[in-house]
Amino acid sequence: MDVKEAIRQRRSIGKVKQDPIARELIEEILEAGVWAPNHAHTEPWRFWVMTGEGRGLLGRGYAEVAVANAGAELSAEEEAQLRAVHEKKAFRAPLVIAVAVTPAEKPVVPVIEEYAAAHCAVQNMMLTAHAMGLGTIWRTGDPTYHPKMQETFGLAGKEEMVGFIYIGYPEAVPTKAERIPFAQKTIWVSE
Ligand SMILES: Cc1cc2nc3c(=O)[nH]c(=O)nc-3n(C[C@H](O)[C@H](O)[C@H](O)COP(=O)(O)O)c2cc1C
Repeated sequence: MDVKEAIRQRRSIGKVKQDPIARELIEEILEAGVWAPNHAHTEPWRFWVMTGEGRGLLGRGYAEVAVANAGAELSAEEEAQLRAVHEKKAFRAPLVIAVAVTPAEKPVVPVIEEYAAAHCAVQNMMLTAHAMGLGTIWRTGDPTYHPKMQETFGLAGKEEMVGFIYIGYPEAVPTKAERIPFAQKTIWVSE
């Protein structure tokens, strides 16, 4: 698929089939991720590929955050129920790739640029998956940045999650999207 076509056609797809995705395709997606631009060759990303029961890792992260946020004393039964509700969220797609930024300690590269590079990696992966006929959605939300999520994935120092890419064969055609025309966002400067 032509890159212009992929950019123009890709839509976030939250509802996907549970059919597994071939390992070769997953590796192609990851390969696209590492070719993202990055300042001073820091390559500031880490990926977790979660399939099958492996998605339970993210599920545990969601559950730990929910229990921490519940604050009040929960009975064992209440805690188990809360955990079950939140763990389930990680199973909305057959494949979830967690992406973390790992900022380098290089004075020439501000941390904001390390995030930019990790975000580019996410977009590369989503476009590549789209070109394979897969649906993707970049999910975040408050739990993404919670210390309990960081602990679950073993993030250290300045490392942070930047999102979870949920990937699967689309269940339904996405609704039409609209964008504000670029003309309204652009100033042309020619002299
Ligand atoms: C950083 C980031 C975080 C996002 N987090 C969520 C999310 O938590 N839940 C969700 O449904 N969509 C999330 N999205 C997807 C956006 O909702 C989606 O990109 C937007 O609606 C535009 O639709 P499109 O991707 O089909 O163009 C996120 C997108 C970005 C870039």
